[in-house]
Amino acid sequence: MALPALLAPALLLLAAAASAAGGGCRSGCDLALASFLIARNQNLTYIAQLFSIDYRSLAPYNPQYPNLDFIPADASVNVSFPCGCHSLPGAPSATYLAGSFPYLVRSGETYESIAGHFSNLTTPDWLARTNSYPANNIPDTGVRVNVTVNCSCGDPGISTAYGLFLTYPLRDGQTLASVAANYSFSSPAQMDLLRQYNPGMATNTRGLVFIPVKGEHL
Ligand SMILES: *[C@@H]1O[C@H](CO)[C@@H](O)[C@H](O)[C@H]1NC(C)=O
Ligand SMILES: *[C@@H]1O[C@H](CO)[C@@H](O)[C@H](O)[C@H]1NC(C)=O
Ligand SMILES: *[C@@H]1O[C@H](CO)[C@@H](O)[C@H](O)[C@H]1NC(C)=O
Ligand SMILES: *[C@@H]1O[C@H](CO)[C@@H](O)[C@H](O)[C@H]1NC(C)=O
Ligand SMILES: *[C@@H]1O[C@H](CO)[C@@H](O)[C@H](O)[C@H]1NC(C)=O
Ligand SMILES: *[C@@H]1O[C@H](CO)[C@@H](O)[C@H](O)[C@H]1NC(C)=O
Repeated sequence: MALPALLAPALLLLAAAASAAGGGCRSGCDLALASFLIARNQNLTYIAQLFSIDYRSLAPYNPQYPNLDFIPADASVNVSFPCGCHSLPGAPSATYLAGSFPYLVRSGETYESIAGHFSNLTTPDWLARTNSYPANNIPDTGVRVNVTVNCSCGDPGISTAYGLFLTYPLRDGQTLASVAANYSFSSPAQMDLLRQYNPGMATNTRGLVFIPVKGEHL
């Protein structure tokens, strides 16, 4: 008897999370950014390859690095990508906003190991849901899976002032508020806006948040 009462808020949270990443989208937008923390065994050439771009194209989104050939270890870079409206395999009406990056699977790889290359911008579960191969049955060689990185194009119902969003994976100890402060969002009104863009994420310490970064596309 208590079950439905417990389930209802959980379902509401799910619905909220879905709308954050454009659940029910009909179109996407040309540009989104993702914050990528460079791991020890990675470099910008490798990361650019993951996203099928030339790393030099990232210069305008990384003004803090005057020379992309010299990026400090453990630094974050902004990666740019088109934010498309995609649908779940076999469910054309279940749409969501994301960048989709083909990844050539090597022998023995799993959704977990593949997600591990992407700086927490996606999860093994999300890869399993957005690809047609079941998690326990990814063909071993020569196939590509789509690495799905959620993004946002904003929401005119919340504000028309923001059109470019940064997908940011919360890192150890971070919250929406602490990340927001780093991007100069701190007033109560600004925090209220951020919570509207990130329903259900106000108290989380893991998962993706979407930070509005520019009024217009570059
Ligand atoms: C991406 O967004 C969908 C909803 O649109 C959500 O179900 C999924 O968990 C999100 N994935 C990640 C890695 O946050
Ligand atoms: C960049 O990383 C890749 C993959 O780890 C490696 O093969 C390559 O040698 C690295 N390049 C440089 C310039 O360090
Ligand atoms: C990434 O983009 C954000 C928002 O535009 C900006 O504040 C930050 O400085 C950029 N990072 C780098 C490394 O330039
Ligand atoms: C990914 O998330 C896990 C769990 O929150 C964390 O321990 C790890 O440091 C994160 N990695 C990166 C690159 O942010
Ligand atoms: C990856 O995406 C493409 C284009 O949407 C689709 O045709 C293909 O089936 C997807 N691959 C997997 C493994 O789901
Ligand atoms: C804020 O930015 C600094 C410098 O980029 C970084 O070291 C720190 O981890 C960031 N903190 C949060 C909460 O994002």
